[in-house]
Amino acid sequence: NPMQIAVILGSLRKQSMNRQLATALARLAPVGVEFNQLEIGDLPLYNQDDDAQQAATVQRFKAQVSASHGLLFVTPEYNRSIPGVLKNAIDHGSRPYGHSSWTGKPAGIVGLSPGSTGAAMAQQHLRNVLVAVGVVTLPQPEVFLQNKEGLFDANGDIGEASKGFLQGWMATYVGWVRQFAG
Ligand code: FNR
Repeated sequence: NPMQIAVILGSLRKQSMNRQLATALARLAPVGVEFNQLEIGDLPLYNQDDDAQQAATVQRFKAQVSASHGLLFVTPEYNRSIPGVLKNAIDHGSRPYGHSSWTGKPAGIVGLSPGSTGAAMAQQHLRNVLVAVGVVTLPQPEVFLQNKEGLFDANGDIGEASKGFLQGWMATYVGWVRQFAG
């Protein structure tokens, strides 16, 4: 059975550089690991009044998270934090109380920004949120990527400058998920 990774993107944008990164990263994975980018753009704004009758899109999202062995968060930074759409998705997955989809899931975080901080503050905020929902996030190595010329090659793969680092990160990440997936 392949290891199933649910990829949760912090950007809804079609041309998102983080979406491109998520796609390229998946190609660095060892055989037997499958990545599935989840849709979060169709989730309603979280409203606690709806806990007793969660929307079909919320139920689908929660089922996808539950069915995965591990999570991969790939997010930009918006105003020094995570985008609201990502927090919205995490809140949905955590409810109703006692029926969270997140508890105990192993996760990795990567982020890409046009700026030199590489979405570092967003990633740190995300770690804080994930602790609250019981996700166990790979502590090291951290991945703060700046979108420089050559990060991606002509095929959309990770370019030579960052390939070794991200390949190594992927190996550590898969080992981390395997540890918790048993
Ligand atoms: C940004 N951007 C940004 N970048 C950053 O490094 N730190 C930040 O605090 C912010 N703040 C911010 C707020 C808002 C509302 C927007 C729309 C953008 C720039 C951001 O990194 C850039 O738009 C990326 O291209 C977004 O990632 P995707 O959509 O390409 O994956």
